[in-house]
Amino acid sequence: MTKTVLITGATSGLGSEFVQLFAKDGYDLVLVARNEKNLEEIKQTWKDVNVTILPKDLSEPGAAKEVFEFVQQRNITVDVLVNNAGFGLMGKFDELDIQKQVNMIQLNVTALTELTYYFLKGMKHRNHGKIMNVASTAAFQPGPLMAIYYATKAFVLSFSEALVEELAHTNITVTTLCPGATKTNFGAVASVESTKMFSNAMASDVVAKEGYEAMLKGKRVVITGALNKAGALGSKFLPRSVAAKIAKYVAGEK
Ligand SMILES: NC(=O)c1ccc[n+]([C@@H]2O[C@H](COP(=O)([O-])OP(=O)(O)OC[C@H]3O[C@@H](n4cnc5c(N)ncnc54)[C@H](OP(=O)(O)O)[C@@H]3O)[C@@H](O)[C@H]2O)c1
Repeated sequence: MTKTVLITGATSGLGSEFVQLFAKDGYDLVLVARNEKNLEEIKQTWKDVNVTILPKDLSEPGAAKEVFEFVQQRNITVDVLVNNAGFGLMGKFDELDIQKQVNMIQLNVTALTELTYYFLKGMKHRNHGKIMNVASTAAFQPGPLMAIYYATKAFVLSFSEALVEELAHTNITVTTLCPGATKTNFGAVASVESTKMFSNAMASDVVAKEGYEAMLKGKRVVITGALNKAGALGSKFLPRSVAAKIAKYVAGEK
């Protein structure tokens, strides 16, 4: 039977790579992002695939529930949930716009949490499902100059790893993808392209494929790229104060 994946942030970067990977493997797609025109274009590109699109701003309170209700009304069973939509902002916490930072928490944390909650219920009922939550290597240490972004990704990692244990004796897997800098629109949106952290940005297709394969295998956490793996491992052994200083250094201009 054809499986269905719901992907948030499907119109760009890692999300559009996930679209290709799932479509080529024969999944039906439910795609969520804000830009309707971009969603329509994807639907036109994959004419042989069953694509359902839903333009939705997931930074608005209640949006995740609306996504769930939309899917329910169409009797779509979501076998795989990919919580990918997210954004970052560079700057001092007190100098960045507070509403933008709240929207970031709403998108990166609240929508991801709510979507997981709603779709997990059905997965548990069927005792079958996969969830991929996109965090970041930012999850492993505090991030001065991107304080809220790093904190949101720490939430995603902690939450997802806890779920793995709660679901240990089920056929539901939760995979956390932790990319380092990756060439997508993220850099421009967050204004980080000229920083040292983006010196060795990876290609989005490579990152997405690594995440996709790890998700299929039901792996717990995947950190993409050897340098990022080493960095994440290093930050486990460093005092958090030192790890935070390094994060501040790499947030500086090249
Ligand atoms: N690129 C990196 O260096 C990097 C590193 C680590 C982790 N990540 C994570 O990877 C994930 C994907 O990001 P990306 O790098 O692929 O960035 P991207 O190219 O900017 O893509 C972001 C996607 O999210 C959607 N989106 C943004 N705001 C949204 C909202 N309020 N509601 C619904 N959809 C929204 C965008 O579409 P619309 O604009 O149409 O809404 C787009 O499809 C994010 O969670 C990001 O934090 C990225």
